[in-house]
Amino acid sequence: MTTTAPEHLLRADGVTVRFGGLTALDDVGLRVEPGSVVGLIGPNGAGKTTFFNVLSGVLRPTSGTISWKGAPPPGRKTHHLAKAGIARTFQGLNLFPMMPVIWNVMVGADRLARGGSFSLISGLGRHHRDEKELEERAMAALVRFGIAEYATRLPGTLPYGVQKQVALARACVGEPELLLLDEPASGLSGQQMDNLAEQIRGFSKDMAVVLVEHHMDLVMNVCDHIVVLNFGKVISSGTPAEVQADPAVTQAYLGTPANEEPADGRPVTVDPGQNGAAR
Ligand SMILES: Nc1ncnc2c1ncn2[C@@H]1O[C@H](COP(=O)(O)OP(=O)(O)OP(=O)(O)O)[C@@H](O)[C@H]1O
Ligand SMILES: [Mg+2]
Repeated sequence: MTTTAPEHLLRADGVTVRFGGLTALDDVGLRVEPGSVVGLIGPNGAGKTTFFNVLSGVLRPTSGTISWKGAPPPGRKTHHLAKAGIARTFQGLNLFPMMPVIWNVMVGADRLARGGSFSLISGLGRHHRDEKELEERAMAALVRFGIAEYATRLPGTLPYGVQKQVALARACVGEPELLLLDEPASGLSGQQMDNLAEQIRGFSKDMAVVLVEHHMDLVMNVCDHIVVLNFGKVISSGTPAEVQADPAVTQAYLGTPANEEPADGRPVTVDPGQNGAAR
Protein backbone atom coordinates (compact mmCIF):
# COMPACT_ATOMS: atom_id res chain seq x y z
CA MET A 1 0.00 0.00 0.00
CA THR A 2 1.33 3.43 -0.88
CA THR A 3 0.72 6.48 1.23
CA THR A 4 0.37 9.83 -0.48
CA ALA A 5 1.02 13.21 1.09
CA PRO A 6 -2.16 15.09 2.00
CA GLU A 7 -3.24 17.19 -0.94
CA HIS A 8 -3.35 20.95 -0.75
CA LEU A 9 -6.67 22.37 -1.71
CA LEU A 10 -5.04 25.33 -3.41
CA ARG A 11 -1.38 25.76 -4.11
CA ALA A 12 0.56 28.57 -5.77
CA ASP A 13 4.22 28.23 -6.70
CA GLY A 14 6.63 30.83 -8.02
CA VAL A 15 3.88 33.21 -9.13
CA THR A 16 5.28 36.23 -10.94
CA VAL A 17 3.13 38.89 -12.57
CA ARG A 18 4.56 41.72 -14.65
CA PHE A 19 2.57 44.66 -15.93
CA GLY A 20 4.91 46.10 -18.56
CA GLY A 21 8.04 47.09 -16.64
CA LEU A 22 6.42 46.73 -13.20
CA THR A 23 6.79 43.49 -11.29
CA ALA A 24 3.56 43.32 -9.26
CA LEU A 25 4.31 39.81 -7.91
CA ASP A 26 7.74 38.22 -7.65
CA ASP A 27 7.98 34.47 -7.02
CA VAL A 28 5.05 34.24 -4.60
CA GLY A 29 3.91 30.90 -3.16
CA LEU A 30 0.93 29.91 -1.03
CA ARG A 31 -0.60 26.73 0.38
CA VAL A 32 -4.20 26.47 1.48
CA GLU A 33 -5.27 23.39 3.44
CA PRO A 34 -8.88 22.27 3.71
CA GLY A 35 -10.70 24.05 6.54
CA SER A 36 -8.00 26.69 7.11
CA VAL A 37 -8.29 30.47 7.04
CA VAL A 38 -5.37 32.13 5.24
CA GLY A 39 -4.89 35.91 5.34
CA LEU A 40 -3.15 37.92 2.67
CA ILE A 41 -1.98 41.30 3.94
CA GLY A 42 0.47 44.02 3.00
CA PRO A 43 0.67 47.78 2.48
CA ASN A 44 -1.05 49.56 -0.41
CA GLY A 45 0.27 48.45 -3.77
CA ALA A 46 1.89 45.32 -2.28
CA GLY A 47 0.24 43.01 -4.84
CA LYS A 48 -2.64 41.55 -2.79
CA THR A 49 -5.38 42.13 -5.33
CA THR A 50 -3.14 40.95 -8.14
CA PHE A 51 -2.43 37.72 -6.24
CA PHE A 52 -6.12 37.32 -5.37
CA ASN A 53 -6.95 37.62 -9.06
CA VAL A 54 -4.36 34.98 -9.90
CA LEU A 55 -5.72 32.66 -7.19
CA SER A 56 -9.29 33.15 -8.31
CA GLY A 57 -8.25 32.34 -11.86
CA VAL A 58 -9.14 35.65 -13.53
CA LEU A 59 -5.52 36.70 -14.13
CA ARG A 60 -2.94 34.44 -15.75
CA PRO A 61 0.49 34.91 -14.14
CA THR A 62 3.51 35.79 -16.26
CA SER A 63 5.14 32.70 -14.77
CA GLY A 64 4.46 30.24 -11.97
CA THR A 65 1.70 27.73 -11.37
CA ILE A 66 -1.59 27.45 -9.53
CA SER A 67 -3.09 24.09 -8.72
CA TRP A 68 -6.50 23.20 -7.40
CA LYS A 69 -6.56 19.79 -5.66
CA GLY A 70 -3.41 18.82 -7.47
CA ALA A 71 -4.71 19.74 -10.94
CA PRO A 72 -4.62 22.91 -13.06
CA PRO A 73 -7.31 25.49 -12.20
CA PRO A 74 -10.71 24.76 -13.73
CA GLY A 75 -10.96 27.89 -15.91
CA ARG A 76 -11.25 31.65 -15.82
CA LYS A 77 -14.99 32.21 -15.62
CA THR A 78 -16.87 32.44 -12.34
CA HIS A 79 -19.10 29.51 -13.30
CA HIS A 80 -16.07 27.29 -14.03
CA LEU A 81 -14.74 28.09 -10.58
CA ALA A 82 -18.14 27.63 -8.96
CA LYS A 83 -18.56 24.21 -10.53
CA ALA A 84 -15.17 23.19 -9.14
CA GLY A 85 -16.11 24.41 -5.65
CA ILE A 86 -14.42 27.83 -5.54
CA ALA A 87 -16.49 30.92 -4.69
CA ARG A 88 -15.43 34.52 -4.30
CA THR A 89 -16.85 37.80 -3.15
CA PHE A 90 -16.00 41.11 -4.80
CA GLN A 91 -14.91 44.29 -3.10
CA GLY A 92 -17.67 46.12 -4.95
CA LEU A 93 -20.41 43.60 -3.99
CA ASN A 94 -21.38 42.85 -7.63
CA LEU A 95 -25.01 42.09 -6.80
CA PHE A 96 -27.59 42.17 -9.59
CA PRO A 97 -29.39 45.46 -8.87
CA MET A 98 -32.63 44.57 -10.67
CA MET A 99 -33.04 41.16 -9.02
CA PRO A 100 -34.53 40.67 -5.56
CA VAL A 101 -32.20 39.38 -2.86
CA ILE A 102 -33.50 35.81 -3.09
CA TRP A 103 -32.72 35.65 -6.84
CA ASN A 104 -29.25 37.03 -6.27
CA VAL A 105 -28.60 34.20 -3.82
CA MET A 106 -30.22 31.60 -6.11
CA VAL A 107 -27.60 32.43 -8.74
CA GLY A 108 -24.95 31.32 -6.22
CA ALA A 109 -26.77 28.04 -5.56
CA ASP A 110 -26.77 27.21 -9.22
CA ARG A 111 -23.79 24.85 -9.25
CA LEU A 112 -25.91 22.44 -7.22
CA ALA A 113 -28.71 22.47 -9.80
CA ARG A 114 -29.02 20.92 -13.24
CA GLY A 115 -29.50 24.03 -15.42
CA GLY A 116 -26.91 26.84 -15.63
CA SER A 117 -27.08 30.46 -14.43
CA PHE A 118 -28.41 31.34 -17.82
CA SER A 119 -31.52 29.25 -17.28
CA LEU A 120 -32.14 31.01 -13.96
CA ILE A 121 -31.75 34.47 -15.47
CA SER A 122 -33.66 33.69 -18.66
CA GLY A 123 -36.21 31.31 -17.19
CA LEU A 124 -35.51 28.95 -20.12
CA GLY A 125 -34.81 25.26 -19.88
CA ARG A 126 -35.21 24.78 -16.18
CA HIS A 127 -37.57 22.36 -14.62
CA HIS A 128 -39.93 23.86 -12.08
CA ARG A 129 -38.71 21.35 -9.48
CA ASP A 130 -35.09 22.53 -9.88
CA GLU A 131 -36.12 26.12 -9.43
CA LYS A 132 -38.09 25.26 -6.30
CA GLU A 133 -35.08 23.45 -4.88
CA LEU A 134 -32.80 26.41 -5.62
CA GLU A 135 -35.24 28.76 -3.98
CA GLU A 136 -35.38 26.61 -0.88
CA ARG A 137 -31.60 26.46 -0.66
CA ALA A 138 -31.34 30.22 -1.13
CA MET A 139 -34.01 30.86 1.50
CA ALA A 140 -32.23 28.57 3.97
CA ALA A 141 -29.04 30.59 3.36
CA LEU A 142 -30.89 33.86 3.95
CA VAL A 143 -32.16 32.47 7.26
CA ARG A 144 -28.64 31.32 8.19
CA PHE A 145 -27.26 34.79 7.44
CA GLY A 146 -30.10 36.49 9.34
CA ILE A 147 -31.42 38.35 6.28
CA ALA A 148 -34.56 36.36 5.39
CA GLU A 149 -36.75 39.40 5.93
CA TYR A 150 -35.10 41.09 2.93
CA ALA A 151 -35.73 38.22 0.47
CA THR A 152 -38.00 40.16 -1.87
CA ARG A 153 -36.19 43.51 -1.68
CA LEU A 154 -33.88 44.89 -4.34
CA PRO A 155 -30.26 45.08 -3.07
CA GLY A 156 -29.93 48.82 -3.68
CA THR A 157 -32.73 49.59 -1.23
CA LEU A 158 -30.87 47.90 1.67
CA PRO A 159 -28.20 49.17 4.08
CA TYR A 160 -24.63 48.42 2.98
CA GLY A 161 -24.04 45.91 5.80
CA VAL A 162 -27.07 43.89 4.68
CA GLN A 163 -25.89 43.97 1.06
CA LYS A 164 -22.53 42.59 2.20
CA GLN A 165 -24.38 39.73 3.91
CA VAL A 166 -26.32 39.06 0.68
CA ALA A 167 -23.01 38.82 -1.19
CA LEU A 168 -21.65 36.42 1.45
CA ALA A 169 -24.83 34.32 1.35
CA ARG A 170 -24.54 34.13 -2.44
CA ALA A 171 -20.92 32.96 -2.19
CA CYS A 172 -21.67 30.34 0.50
CA VAL A 173 -24.98 28.92 -0.70
CA GLY A 174 -23.27 26.76 -3.35
CA GLU A 175 -21.32 25.01 -0.56
CA PRO A 176 -17.87 25.84 -1.93
CA GLU A 177 -14.72 24.13 -0.68
CA LEU A 178 -12.79 27.37 -0.97
CA LEU A 179 -14.09 30.86 -0.34
CA LEU A 180 -12.04 33.83 -1.53
CA LEU A 181 -12.97 37.03 0.29
CA ASP A 182 -11.83 40.37 -1.08
CA GLU A 183 -11.85 42.96 1.70
CA PRO A 184 -15.09 41.69 3.28
CA ALA A 185 -14.85 44.18 6.17
CA SER A 186 -14.59 47.35 4.09
CA GLY A 187 -17.37 49.75 4.98
CA LEU A 188 -18.57 47.77 8.02
CA SER A 189 -19.10 49.10 11.54
CA GLY A 190 -17.23 47.62 14.52
CA GLN A 191 -20.23 45.51 15.54
CA GLN A 192 -20.70 44.22 11.98
CA MET A 193 -17.01 43.36 11.86
CA ASP A 194 -17.27 41.29 15.06
CA ASN A 195 -20.18 39.47 13.47
CA LEU A 196 -18.14 38.90 10.32
CA ALA A 197 -15.21 37.48 12.33
CA GLU A 198 -17.56 34.99 13.94
CA GLN A 199 -19.00 34.04 10.56
CA ILE A 200 -15.58 33.48 8.99
CA ARG A 201 -14.54 31.24 11.86
CA GLY A 202 -17.82 29.36 11.38
CA PHE A 203 -17.23 28.98 7.62
CA SER A 204 -13.92 27.22 8.17
CA LYS A 205 -15.72 24.20 9.58
CA ASP A 206 -16.94 23.51 6.05
CA MET A 207 -14.56 25.31 3.71
CA ALA A 208 -11.16 26.91 3.46
CA VAL A 209 -11.04 30.71 3.32
CA VAL A 210 -8.51 33.08 1.76
CA LEU A 211 -8.96 36.59 3.05
CA VAL A 212 -7.52 39.81 1.64
CA GLU A 213 -8.16 42.44 4.25
CA HIS A 214 -6.85 45.73 5.59
CA HIS A 215 -8.38 45.46 9.04
CA MET A 216 -5.62 43.93 11.10
CA ASP A 217 -7.67 43.03 14.11
CA LEU A 218 -10.00 40.96 11.92
CA VAL A 219 -7.09 39.25 10.17
CA MET A 220 -5.25 38.49 13.42
CA ASN A 221 -8.46 37.24 14.96
CA VAL A 222 -9.63 34.78 12.32
CA CYS A 223 -6.58 33.55 10.38
CA ASP A 224 -4.65 30.35 10.99
CA HIS A 225 -1.89 31.47 8.68
CA ILE A 226 -0.91 34.86 7.26
CA VAL A 227 1.19 35.78 4.23
CA VAL A 228 2.58 39.30 4.12
CA LEU A 229 3.40 40.89 0.78
CA ASN A 230 5.40 44.03 0.15
CA PHE A 231 6.43 45.30 -3.29
CA GLY A 232 5.24 41.98 -4.74
CA LYS A 233 7.41 39.76 -2.53
CA VAL A 234 6.53 37.59 0.46
CA ILE A 235 8.31 39.32 3.34
CA SER A 236 6.84 37.21 6.14
CA SER A 237 4.50 34.30 6.71
CA GLY A 238 3.35 32.31 9.69
CA THR A 239 0.79 32.34 12.48
CA PRO A 240 -0.73 35.68 13.50
CA ALA A 241 1.63 35.80 16.51
CA GLU A 242 4.70 35.08 14.35
CA VAL A 243 3.79 37.70 11.77
CA GLN A 244 3.03 40.30 14.42
CA ALA A 245 6.40 39.73 16.06
CA ASP A 246 8.30 40.03 12.77
CA PRO A 247 10.15 43.38 12.56
CA ALA A 248 10.10 43.16 8.74
CA VAL A 249 6.31 43.45 8.87
CA THR A 250 6.29 46.50 11.14
CA GLN A 251 8.89 48.13 8.96
CA ALA A 252 6.94 47.41 5.77
CA TYR A 253 3.80 48.98 7.17
CA LEU A 254 5.53 52.02 8.55
CA GLY A 255 7.75 52.45 5.52
CA THR A 256 10.42 53.52 8.01
CA PRO A 257 12.45 51.79 10.70
CA ALA A 258 10.13 50.71 13.52
CA ASN A 259 11.27 53.43 15.95
CA GLU A 260 10.59 56.34 13.58
CA GLU A 261 7.34 58.20 12.89
CA PRO A 262 5.51 57.17 9.70
CA ALA A 263 5.73 59.92 7.09
CA ASP A 264 2.02 60.77 7.10
CA GLY A 265 1.49 60.27 10.84
CA ARG A 266 -1.36 57.78 10.28
CA PRO A 267 -1.87 54.99 12.81
CA VAL A 268 -0.25 52.23 10.78
CA THR A 269 0.61 49.28 12.99
CA VAL A 270 0.20 45.55 13.13
CA ASP A 271 -0.88 45.69 16.74
CA PRO A 272 -4.12 43.65 16.84
CA GLY A 273 -5.70 46.36 18.95
CA GLN A 274 -5.59 48.76 16.02
CA ASN A 275 -8.16 48.93 13.29
CA GLY A 276 -7.74 49.60 9.57
CA ALA A 277 -4.02 49.46 9.93
CA ALA A 278 -2.91 49.69 6.35
CA ARG A 279 -5.12 52.45 5.09
N1 LIG B 1 -3.71 46.14 -14.47
C1 LIG B 1 -2.61 46.72 -14.02
N2 LIG B 1 -1.76 47.35 -14.86
C2 LIG B 1 -0.63 47.93 -14.41
N3 LIG B 1 -0.24 47.94 -13.11
C3 LIG B 1 -1.05 47.34 -12.23
C4 LIG B 1 -2.28 46.70 -12.62
N4 LIG B 1 -2.87 46.18 -11.51
C5 LIG B 1 -2.06 46.48 -10.49
N5 LIG B 1 -0.97 47.18 -10.91
C6 LIG B 1 0.15 47.63 -10.08
O1 LIG B 1 0.66 46.47 -9.41
C7 LIG B 1 1.02 46.77 -8.06
C8 LIG B 1 0.23 45.90 -7.12
O2 LIG B 1 -1.12 46.30 -7.16
P1 LIG B 1 -2.28 45.63 -6.34
O3 LIG B 1 -3.55 46.28 -6.74
O4 LIG B 1 -2.19 44.16 -6.50
O5 LIG B 1 -1.87 46.02 -4.85
P2 LIG B 1 -2.71 45.84 -3.49
O6 LIG B 1 -1.80 45.20 -2.52
O7 LIG B 1 -4.00 45.18 -3.79
O8 LIG B 1 -2.92 47.36 -3.06
P3 LIG B 1 -4.15 48.05 -2.26
O9 LIG B 1 -3.92 47.75 -0.82
O10 LIG B 1 -3.95 49.51 -2.54
O11 LIG B 1 -5.44 47.50 -2.80
C9 LIG B 1 0.77 48.26 -7.88
O12 LIG B 1 1.96 48.95 -8.12
C10 LIG B 1 -0.25 48.58 -8.97
O13 LIG B 1 -0.15 49.92 -9.37
MG1 LIG C 1 -6.00 45.78 -3.58
